[in-house]
Amino acid sequence: MSSVPVRSSAPGKVILFGEHAVVYGQPAIAVPITQVKATATIESAPGGSGLTIVASDLDERFTLAKAPQNDPLAATAQVTLTHLAIPEPDAILTIQSTIPIASGMGSGAAVSTALVCALAKFLGQPLEPKEASELVYEVEKIHHGTPSGIDNTVVAYEKPIYFVRGKPVERLTVSKPFTLLIADTGNPSPTGKIVGRVRRNREREPAHYDALFDQIGDVADEARRAIESGDVEALGPLMDENHELLIELGVSSSFLDDLVETARLAGALGAKLSGAGQGGNMIALVEDDFADQVAEALRDADAARLIQTKVS
Ligand code: MEV
Repeated sequence: MSSVPVRSSAPGKVILFGEHAVVYGQPAIAVPITQVKATATIESAPGGSGLTIVASDLDERFTLAKAPQNDPLAATAQVTLTHLAIPEPDAILTIQSTIPIASGMGSGAAVSTALVCALAKFLGQPLEPKEASELVYEVEKIHHGTPSGIDNTVVAYEKPIYFVRGKPVERLTVSKPFTLLIADTGNPSPTGKIVGRVRRNREREPAHYDALFDQIGDVADEARRAIESGDVEALGPLMDENHELLIELGVSSSFLDDLVETARLAGALGAKLSGAGQGGNMIALVEDDFADQVAEALRDADAARLIQTKVS
């Protein structure tokens, strides 16, 4: 057990291509977003006090023994202790995050990853990204039903990834860096609920939905080739195509569609919703010279928050 405070951070993420279809075995591409992050800090506490969890942004404080039922932070700590086969330490674990909640930016996966890594490091058993990702996946399954595993993977590896459910993760080489604007609708994107709705729709019309998933998978594969060969111009139309398929899947919203259209009209090379949809974020691919004008147009269209990032 560490005698000095231990800290771990994990970034946010966006999905560039393939959300939803990835749940059904299709490939998807995701990148970490380091401008936002979750941080977990853990320090020793007096003997016999047990593990106290403090979620400072949410004004919550409780011990593991008296945690609210189904609390995600307590579940994450418990999964980690069970995995490491170490009894509950006497410590205070504080969680903070700048990642907007339920916005498609992987806030839950990042908070869990920071917590798992800080706790394991504090207990003298630091985790490799693969191990941290697998533990966080256990927690994601409790809260999201049938997650593909892409969120915990990109957040734990902190690298652009090409992801196929159940297969070893592949890191993606970005031959030519490109700029993204991420615009938040300010409306929630409850992943578990939306994924559940898509599942029910697919049960009713499997052929139709599987055809859409196949097409989304093809777009993700083409995007992979473009990213690896540095063909950034090809990515814009692929994002547009992916967005149209997500509309057909029924996971967009009029506000997301407005922001996507606004970005394109203001000069973006392409744009799409990112994450589970309904609310949450959209992403626009921009040439650096046009970034300011696209950002301004998105602000004028009432985007609740904007992040500009370079994918490399
Ligand atoms: C959520 O970030 C991405 C979805 O594809 C769900 C998942 O992959 O588990 C919508």
